[in-house]
Amino acid sequence: MSQRNEKLEPPSDDKRWRIVQATMQRNGFERDGLIETLHTVQESFGFLDDDSLRYVAASLNAPLSQVFGVSTFYHLFSLKPAGQHTCVVCLGTACYIKGIPLLLKEIENRYGIKAGQTTPDGNLSLMTARCLGSCGLAPVAVFDGEIAGKVNIQEAMARLQALEEKEDVRQA
Ligand code: FES
Repeated sequence: MSQRNEKLEPPSDDKRWRIVQATMQRNGFERDGLIETLHTVQESFGFLDDDSLRYVAASLNAPLSQVFGVSTFYHLFSLKPAGQHTCVVCLGTACYIKGIPLLLKEIENRYGIKAGQTTPDGNLSLMTARCLGSCGLAPVAVFDGEIAGKVNIQEAMARLQALEEKEDVRQA
């Protein structure tokens, strides 16, 4: 299994990917090495983005939802841009068909930001992903690292409201 993963092409020919590959190799391309690998990506590139998360997930045979969940939950990881709370909306085909664009629009309107932006008070970062690997649960969104499947507008708004009200519980 590890042989195959080793051959996956990194998102670019940037030499820093070799450092990331070395970390994964050291952990036998096991999922147990996920946090350490994300650390290495962050140390090497300064932040995590969609392509790097996707690459790490594929290399470790980890569900994308888990990788996004971990990376958005821990304070030490910074996706750009990083607000105090994060909401990742899946725009993959299955979620798209199930009406997620409408949900995204509602969130954008309510917070006055576009996908990829953070509210001026730094409270919420709104991000999108191409597929979180949980298509059976479409439409899917991740709120502070917590996956919400078959999410509707009402539920999403309630979860966002809850995030606004809660203390920052992410771990440093
Ligand atoms: S398309 Fe949204 S989880 Fe796959």
